[in-house]
Amino acid sequence: MRDQVCLVTGAASGIGRAVAVRFRAEGAHVVATDLDGPGLDRLAEQLPGTTTVVGDVSQAADVRRMVDAAVERYGRLDIAVANAGVLPLGEITEADGEDFDRVMAVDGRGMFLTCKYAIEAMAANSGDGGGRGSIVCISSISGEAGQRGQAVYGPAKFVASGLTKHLAVEWADRGIRVNAVAPGTIRTERVARLPQEPGGAAYLAAIEKLHPMARLGEPAEVAAAVLFLASPEASFITGAVLPVDGGYLAQ
Ligand SMILES: NC(=O)c1ccc[n+]([C@@H]2O[C@H](COP(=O)([O-])OP(=O)(O)OC[C@H]3O[C@@H](n4cnc5c(N)ncnc54)[C@H](O)[C@@H]3O)[C@@H](O)[C@H]2O)c1
Repeated sequence: MRDQVCLVTGAASGIGRAVAVRFRAEGAHVVATDLDGPGLDRLAEQLPGTTTVVGDVSQAADVRRMVDAAVERYGRLDIAVANAGVLPLGEITEADGEDFDRVMAVDGRGMFLTCKYAIEAMAANSGDGGGRGSIVCISSISGEAGQRGQAVYGPAKFVASGLTKHLAVEWADRGIRVNAVAPGTIRTERVARLPQEPGGAAYLAAIEKLHPMARLGEPAEVAAAVLFLASPEASFITGAVLPVDGGYLAQ
């Protein structure tokens, strides 16, 4: 990973921050992006040399700016981790069409735009088949299986898994690999807020027991899988959705 140029969206918190921390520890150049400017400033204090870009992944111009920042500063983009997302909890009868659209705008369209502009930059890298690059999308167990209370959020994570497979096939012979990880429930800032929400404490207690390892995952455990898929160690792997879920999807 030394000197690899990596874009991470949603890097101010949770899984995205853990990915940024791990990639820096491996010697990569990290372009950390998020809506949360102060959160990015804290990350840059912790990881000197990190480039930060404040922006919204649901907005094409913002995503373009994130990718341009990598290319302008380092001359190219090697790796993109499409991680930014919102994770509402709720059944379909508690939500309306606007709630669905809000999630899809970030977790669906945002992931699409991140992949689109990253691939455009990677296609310009010279490598076997014309381009060179590696993308890791952050899907979820909710993007691979049905669950209670995830009717608003879960379908957007199926977009992440689906986009991964379509893009993997589309770009396989042009040097760009596209994979995903499907985390189980991970101890991030978002999950830490669940107990303050209606039904959140009960959801958390129930979901923890549904993981065969009977615990939540840690952001660093997801980052380790992202690192593997992004790196040349995974050179013959594309279109994979790797569960990082304590056995949840094996049931
Ligand atoms: N925590 C889990 O249990 C879990 C499980 C499976 C998958 N995931 C996925 O992991 C990813 C990260 O989740 P997390 O738990 O770390 O959440 P988090 O809320 O801790 O972090 C998400 C980050 O994304 C940023 N963000 C949100 N909307 C954005 C936007 N429009 N543009 C740019 N940045 C935006 C937030 O500011 C935040 O810093 C999400 O895609 C989520 O679906 C999380």
